[in-house]
Amino acid sequence: MKTLAQLISPVSSETFYANHHDRSPLHIPASEGADKAALFGWGEFNRLLDQTGHWTSETLRMIHDTRNVDPTQYCRQNATGTHLIPDPRKVQLQLARGSSLVANDLEDMSLPVARLAAGLSSEFAARIGANVYSSFKGVRAFGPHFDLHHVFAVQIEGEKLWRLYKNRMPDPVDMPVQGLDLPLWFQRNCGPVMQEVRMKPGDVLYLPRGWFHDALAEDGASLHVTFSVAPLYGRILFKLLESAAMQDPAFRKYFPPVEQAGGKALQQHLGHLGQKLAALCALPDFLDEVAMTQNRLRPRTGEYSLPAQMELTRYRVQPIAAPAFSGPVAHAMHYAYSRSEFVLEEVIALFDFVSETDIRAAVDRAAASGSLIKL
Ligand SMILES: [Fe+2]
Repeated sequence: MKTLAQLISPVSSETFYANHHDRSPLHIPASEGADKAALFGWGEFNRLLDQTGHWTSETLRMIHDTRNVDPTQYCRQNATGTHLIPDPRKVQLQLARGSSLVANDLEDMSLPVARLAAGLSSEFAARIGANVYSSFKGVRAFGPHFDLHHVFAVQIEGEKLWRLYKNRMPDPVDMPVQGLDLPLWFQRNCGPVMQEVRMKPGDVLYLPRGWFHDALAEDGASLHVTFSVAPLYGRILFKLLESAAMQDPAFRKYFPPVEQAGGKALQQHLGHLGQKLAALCALPDFLDEVAMTQNRLRPRTGEYSLPAQMELTRYRVQPIAAPAFSGPVAHAMHYAYSRSEFVLEEVIALFDFVSETDIRAAVDRAAASGSLIKL
């Protein structure tokens, strides 16, 4: 299972985008013969947890009655005493006492999870995080809340009752309050229960960001994985525009005092800079910059194929004009042409935020033009 279409099957992508994406929740019961629970099972989850050196008290958390369990309750010091690592016996003790286990970033550890995360990342141009939740009968780890990203939850083992509330926060990017006030704020603002969804193995639930919900384990041990989907939004402009804007002397000039000309001088200055920012946003180079930032969100899914040795393809740059390249691939080709010789596979590895297909096509075009010679 590698794509959105496979994840939401038998619902079509058209139906999903027309009726649910960023609009309303969607519960997709497992259809006969489908194998969505096959992302992993208890055996594979145990195997991942057994890689104790990977886990820290940040990546493996325990929740009891909506509160984080103190890491000293389920961790021990590592051999060098530099940090805490989860202790299997303590973790299972806490689970038996009614805590839930949350294992973060499974996309870094499990190939099937990584493949689906990569597919979703391409589909939504988004950062994908895969977290696994394990709990036992009657346990509710979290009270009503919303998340700052879209969620696809896949029930792997056991059952879980999700409650979807009526209210939704419009396009939330930060939590409305911090700390201990937050659960109370959620309680007051979630509204009445709108729908109850009983998730069974293989079921999928889509929740748009900001939709209030909570979940309760039912009928024995439950294991589910959530894929969080977080695309870029307007805030990224403030980061990306800064370096571009500072190249322009207009952005380096000091502001006039607000008293000057009754505030008009400052207003004019700001208006002038605003126009320059709009012009920067409209540049094709800036579109490339945003596109490359989107590509950087994608998980790296390179797989080992040892003992096979990678074949290296070397090129020598010739002293004739290179063809014109546009879009993100131009950055990779600029690097390649800055050397006297380069290895194609190295350029692909260095520019992993540029499409490999585009790099190969550009190098082929350059070789056909005679400005590169394959060695
Ligand atoms: Fe949530």
